[in-house]
Amino acid sequence: MVGKLTEEQLAVKQAAREFAQQELLPGVIERDRNMTFATEQVKAMGEMGFMGMMVSEKYGGGGMDTMSYVVAMEEISKIDNSCSVAMSVNNSLVCWGLETFGTEEQKQKYLTKLASGEQIGAFCLSEPEAGSDATSQRTTAIDKGDHYLLNGTKNWITNGGSSSVHLVIAQTDAEKGHRGINALIVPTDLEGVEIGAKEDKLGIRGSDTHTIMYNNVKVPKENRIGEDGFGFKFAMKVLSGGRIGIAAQALGIAAGAYELAVKYSKEREAFGKSISKHQAIAFKLADMATEIQAARLLVYNAARLKDEGKNYDMASSMAKLFAAETAMKHTVEAVQIHGGYGYVKEYHVERLMRDAKITQIYEGTSEIQKLVISRTVLSGKLY
Ligand code: CAA
Ligand code: FAD
Repeated sequence: MVGKLTEEQLAVKQAAREFAQQELLPGVIERDRNMTFATEQVKAMGEMGFMGMMVSEKYGGGGMDTMSYVVAMEEISKIDNSCSVAMSVNNSLVCWGLETFGTEEQKQKYLTKLASGEQIGAFCLSEPEAGSDATSQRTTAIDKGDHYLLNGTKNWITNGGSSSVHLVIAQTDAEKGHRGINALIVPTDLEGVEIGAKEDKLGIRGSDTHTIMYNNVKVPKENRIGEDGFGFKFAMKVLSGGRIGIAAQALGIAAGAYELAVKYSKEREAFGKSISKHQAIAFKLADMATEIQAARLLVYNAARLKDEGKNYDMASSMAKLFAAETAMKHTVEAVQIHGGYGYVKEYHVERLMRDAKITQIYEGTSEIQKLVISRTVLSGKLY
């Protein structure tokens, strides 16, 4: 049964729930208001094993499956999505990418510190003129024999200012199009790495989003991931897994808002009874419960396919598309159920509503997920 969790997965879910309640809930409103990156809390997440959950134990990770990762993501995302996006990027883009496609030397040098949370990583694909159209890379990595000379600008980089390692996608041979793109491991202390100002955002305001400039950065050849020209495929493969993480984040946002709405609807009275006894409110809760459970099953399905070594590209896009749309729709409803109280920060649902919006945009917009799904459907390869 797709929704059934093992004892171990249930224990991870419970640990993440308790951690989020005890360590992330206090201060979440202030961090959101002041755009503060949760440095201490992210460090604690590393100590708890949440930053490298799927990395093998031999590289300092938790050695867990994708299902354990998504249940932890859901619980943490009910409370603090600036923390859960840092967790998602580090786990499913950076660590998974390094462990799956990196050399033994790269893993020893970079993965162990990233998996333990001692350091955090960033994934740098998007550019001012290459977002959805990710093959249009303007950043160049020119082959200079023993190193690549990296030049260009990446924007919207999550963990941009707080990371020690960037995985940078850049064009080496323009004539080869997307087959001339490389993925490079760039330690941020290399000369020429410049961190731009932090973005002032609608939601996930504590998340550390920056523009990054690479000015004549000399990246050693041994820092290339995979064969020459593998960079775009690397990005696509990594994003297929990343989208499961963001789908779990969207699920957590929806489920967190739903839990708050159920509680509030039982407490708040209007016209002589609790508002939950007004059918208009009860039916909203019924719709929320149904669609959130559908989103959860899509997330679990994608995680299960990945754990079973099957193709999960379309399943991850379906999970992200549906969970993101559910998060947006039902956080708006959660604010509505709270009435005026929903509109102020103290009740948390307005923050979840603002956070929901980004899940329809990053790691591929909802339109891009439909593009991936429709191409698969039309190719005749449904699953
Ligand atoms: N696995 C392996 N290879 C894949 C692949 C996959 N899942 N998807 C595509 N490819 C390969 C294709 O096979 C093709 O290679 P060949 O020509 O050698 O066969 C190559 O990639 C190009 O693919 P397309 O021809 O399909 O390229 P396209 O330009 O038509 O469309 C796209 C590609 C799906 C739209 C892609 O550009 C895309 O996913 N865009 C969205 C970008 C994105 O998600 N950015 C997220 C940034 S990270 C982030 O956002 C993090 C965060 O917020 C926290
Ligand atoms: P565009 O690609 O310009 O899209 C604009 C609109 O056009 C969208 O609605 C889009 O869906 C639509 N559109 C575009 N092409 C098509 C099409 N073919 N069919 C139908 N509709 C289409 N990127 C990283 O590399 N690393 C990160 O860590 C990272 N973190 C982020 C954090 C935040 C807070 C934000 C806001 C973004 C982040 N991103 C990151 C970038 C993110 O992945 C991009 O914003 C996203 O992929 C969309 O690209 P764009 O903003 O250029 O929009």
